[in-house]
Amino acid sequence: MIPPHQVLLTERQIAEKVSGLGAEIASDYAGKDIWIVCIACGAIVFVSDLMRRIPNMVYLDVVKVKSYTGTHGGEIRLRDALCFDPAGRDVLVCDDILDRGKTLMFVRDLILAQKPASVRTCVLLDKPSGHPAELHADYCGFTVPDKFVFGYGLDDDKNRFRNLPYIGCR
Ligand code: IMP
Ligand code: MG
Repeated sequence: MIPPHQVLLTERQIAEKVSGLGAEIASDYAGKDIWIVCIACGAIVFVSDLMRRIPNMVYLDVVKVKSYTGTHGGEIRLRDALCFDPAGRDVLVCDDILDRGKTLMFVRDLILAQKPASVRTCVLLDKPSGHPAELHADYCGFTVPDKFVFGYGLDDDKNRFRNLPYIGCR
């Protein structure tokens, strides 16, 4: 059962925003193929909607990032290698939320080191309270307050509520 919570972003608000992001990306990448890297599990729902709003040729890989939380700050690694070679390609790294920014920037830097033609970042949500002001994603859907949010792919830290069609917060 889903405990009481507040609806922060409705299905309709999300759908409209994702359409807009898709149109913006399609226009920026006009005539180019896009190699999307989706950071699982959180970005799966977002990317599945977003990629269908982009008429370009889109290639997709889904990566899982593993955080080793034993040490302070936690070392981050990819669980598996990418299924495509980023060299010479236009890569778009997508995540559900930019919080501290470690996950997204780790994957972006990893791809950058492999000499892509370009690499940009895209998030559905940005929580500015979590990261320094100079850190940002190239494409961002919504700015959210300093609250724990879940739904539309994001979990509540116990892997629950990813299937909510909207975004809620406690
Ligand atoms: P970052 O490395 O701190 O930016 O963490 C980003 C990751 O933490 C995201 O991919 C999310 O999976 C997770 N995360 C951060 N904040 C939230 C939240 O409010 N709700 C659910 N997941 C979150
Ligand atoms: Mg995540």
